Amino acid sequence: MAETPPAETLPDRPARAAEDWTVPQDWDRYSAADHAMWDRLFDRQARMLPGRVVPEFIAGLDILRMDQPGIPRFDALSQRLMAATGWQVVAVPGLVPDRVFFDHLANRRFPAGRFIRTPAQEDYLQEPDIFHDVFGHVPLLANPVFADYMQAYGEGGLRADGLGAIEKLARLYWYTVEFGLIATPQGLRLYGAGIVSSNAESHFALEDPSPNRLGFDLQRLMRTRYRIDDFQQSYFVIDSFDQLLRQTVGTDFAPLYAALEQQSDFDTDTILPGDRVFTRGTQAYAHKKMQE
Ligand code: PHE
Ligand code: FE
Repeated sequence: MAETPPAETLPDRPARAAEDWTVPQDWDRYSAADHAMWDRLFDRQARMLPGRVVPEFIAGLDILRMDQPGIPRFDALSQRLMAATGWQVVAVPGLVPDRVFFDHLANRRFPAGRFIRTPAQEDYLQEPDIFHDVFGHVPLLANPVFADYMQAYGEGGLRADGLGAIEKLARLYWYTVEFGLIATPQGLRLYGAGIVSSNAESHFALEDPSPNRLGFDLQRLMRTRYRIDDFQQSYFVIDSFDQLLRQTVGTDFAPLYAALEQQSDFDTDTILPGDRVFTRGTQAYAHKKMQE
């Protein structure tokens, strides 16, 4: 989930890994149980997502032929992705340092975990596994606009690091790439990888009366804390991937970071007078959790 924790919490680079932290996928080392786990997760999401996820995601599954059984091979996936948008998928042992992560994205490489969760971890994971990283993130990389956004985010990350603003920029990633919703003529749809790779959160983010659903506003969003331990209390809704690209690539973040230093953060459940409110959440879920 969180791709950008503080570097000091990370283990040393594994001895076998390259300078860029990539490792071989070692596809032959997956067991039958590993493949069966992928298939089970895949089938469950493939059944529930049509009508809930943005159509570009389904198109991506199709372009990349991800409906074939078993854990995908990164080399075959990269070949198709390269043909579509010039992106590749590379294996990493787990979370990587911020600059390594940004550098991969800036060069159109998506670093993906290669391990798959065990049955005991089926619905909750501390670290992103291959199902989250590949099923959640890769389909939209076959979309040219989203592909450009992800590359620009990587470049923006390297820049933000120099400006001491990674924490602010990470909120943009969180509320778009991981937990974003999009307004379509047919209604709200999911596109965030953290949502679409989770069966429970796919229902929660779209249908539960608990969370807020608020219009995307770059500056507001960069002031908003987020939850890494449970479902989000607020989701942000973009109008289109073009809008997302325009408002981020076409904006110099340096003055924004400077301004944000003087401004306080917002809580995860705050609704502001200026917010475009799609749903005013009851927060019933979060309140119930607090009492437990
Ligand atoms: N425009 C941002 C900057 O000036 C970079 C960026 C682009 C960040 C796209 C995120 C997404 O730093
Ligand atoms: Fe992720």
